[in-house]
Amino acid sequence: MVNLKKIVTDMQEYASIHNVPIISPEGSRLLQEVADAAKPLSVLELGTAIGYSTLLLATSMKQGGQITTIEQDEERISIAKHFITQTNLVDQINFIAGDAGAILPELTGKYDLVFIDAAKGQYLDYLRKVLDKLSPGAVILADNVLFRGWVLGNSTAPRRFRTIVKRLRDYLDFVTTDKRFKTVVHHIGDGIAVSYYQGETSI
Ligand SMILES: C[S@@+](CC[C@H](N)C(=O)[O-])C[C@H]1O[C@@H](n2cnc3c(N)ncnc32)[C@H](O)[C@@H]1O
Repeated sequence: MVNLKKIVTDMQEYASIHNVPIISPEGSRLLQEVADAAKPLSVLELGTAIGYSTLLLATSMKQGGQITTIEQDEERISIAKHFITQTNLVDQINFIAGDAGAILPELTGKYDLVFIDAAKGQYLDYLRKVLDKLSPGAVILADNVLFRGWVLGNSTAPRRFRTIVKRLRDYLDFVTTDKRFKTVVHHIGDGIAVSYYQGETSI
């Protein structure tokens, strides 16, 4: 079994060499802080990439915890498996290959923590599809919600990114105004929203 720190470093190196986007160092710290406090038993991750954030989340789960992680790029999933099989956390991770938006309605579990980090234009759709799968008090983290400063900043995004920027605004509007969520937007990395699900009763 390879030491976890070494695998994390190998993953960072792989991501940097092969241009795979992974959560920023500040974002990783926040992700782990939130997960350490939540100590989830069941985690759902959308956007595995090479399994970097998956591994960080796996180390924060309650004993016996399980992560379901969805990734549409099969090559990335096999890299993620290659790294994670070198750890003793492999039995706790369930990899699903495919489009997160299509797979979400098929999932039957309840989740204590959800990490949204797949297609940026689909965050609100993902959230709507996981609403009935949230445990009471669940926490939802969404990465890149400030998308290069264009979502809340004054500068206008280039035309090709405008739909994504608009949809990320819609996501932030939803989680900051809907009474089922208490949300803090952290201006670190590319922006991370941390939303605590208050349950259906507070509507
Ligand atoms: C930013 S990366 C994820 C990084 C990873 N969470 C980490 O921090 O280590 C986003 C990933 O989402 C995947 N992705 C994009 N759209 C997707 C979709 N519709 N369904 C599933 N995965 C998707 C991409 O292939 C990419 O690997």
